[in-house]
Amino acid sequence: MVLSPRRPAVQVDRLHRYFGTTKAVQDLSFEVYPGEVFGYIGPNGAGKTTSMRILATLDEPTYGDAMVDGFSVVDDPDRVRKRLGFMPDYFGAYQNVNVREYLDFFARAYGLSGMERTRAIDRVMEFTLLDRLALKPIDGLSKGMKQRLCLGRTMIHDPSVLILDEPAAGLDPRARIELREMIAAVAAAGKAVLISSHILTELAEICHRVGIIEQGQLLAVGTVDEISASAETISRVRVRVLGDPSGLRSWFAARGDVRDLEESEGRFTLTHEGGPEEQAALLRQIVSAGFAVIEFASKTKSLEDVFLHVTEGRVQ
Ligand SMILES: Nc1ncnc2c1ncn2[C@@H]1O[C@H](COP(=O)(O)OP(=O)(O)OP(=O)(O)O)[C@@H](O)[C@H]1O
Ligand SMILES: [Mg+2]
Repeated sequence: MVLSPRRPAVQVDRLHRYFGTTKAVQDLSFEVYPGEVFGYIGPNGAGKTTSMRILATLDEPTYGDAMVDGFSVVDDPDRVRKRLGFMPDYFGAYQNVNVREYLDFFARAYGLSGMERTRAIDRVMEFTLLDRLALKPIDGLSKGMKQRLCLGRTMIHDPSVLILDEPAAGLDPRARIELREMIAAVAAAGKAVLISSHILTELAEICHRVGIIEQGQLLAVGTVDEISASAETISRVRVRVLGDPSGLRSWFAARGDVRDLEESEGRFTLTHEGGPEEQAALLRQIVSAGFAVIEFASKTKSLEDVFLHVTEGRVQ
């Protein structure tokens, strides 16, 4: 999809957030454009929630800034709040409140009144497929229904930017698809969506671009294809030779470009640093070293492999 070069709806500019000596966010910069779904992918503790909370004006940066529709989260938090909806990664406990009352509470909190409030609640309930559950108590909702309700509450004031922290966590496949379709519809309506997950495959299909974050830094930004291409310098290779495999085992162990060597019934699987050219060279070298190769195959990388490669060794 080609997106027109408009002003970014979200512009994160050299954002830092330290908690004592913990550098939760370090020099983070990226943009999200109107109509774009930007996936924020990183392992536990990467800094996703911390940076999203700053965007939602629930926390302040140690250094740096972020703009939402041109307004600074530091200098203009009230204006930012009107333009942004934040869905946290927890729902909270609500007793004796039904779906409609819950949305009504948030609509009031955003200053909506009269017909405007009624229309906003109806619009959100219809969009999130909750209209038939209007009178259902919230503590009786399923996880998927609660997530839809939480998304609905995030959208009640019709913000131009949605920040969704792990909205798909714990959902079954069907609920995930429903959520995905809702997010796609929100973006198609011109809103900018920032959505986080640990799982790249979960976001790959709906995100126009993804950013891989670890230790508070963006390691890669681009389309899933661009990031996969930049990770082409690594592959999982399978090799089998005739006869005693111990010679090949020590031959591999002596090389600097081979890692994670595994052996099962004379078949080796290893991670090789290098693209197709380097793999061809590796095969030539194994043959030249006198091993009788009867199998040599390289496994296509999955998105998870790409993610592991990009974030490799940087877990704090
Ligand atoms: N209020 C806080 N006080 C101290 N440290 C914090 C605080 N909030 C977050 N951190 C630390 O900041 C780092 C980033 O945490 P954050 O919650 O942003 O990660 P995350 O990417 O959202 O992880 P997860 O996938 O587990 O939700 C972690 O090391 C965390 O311990
Ligand atoms: Mg988090």
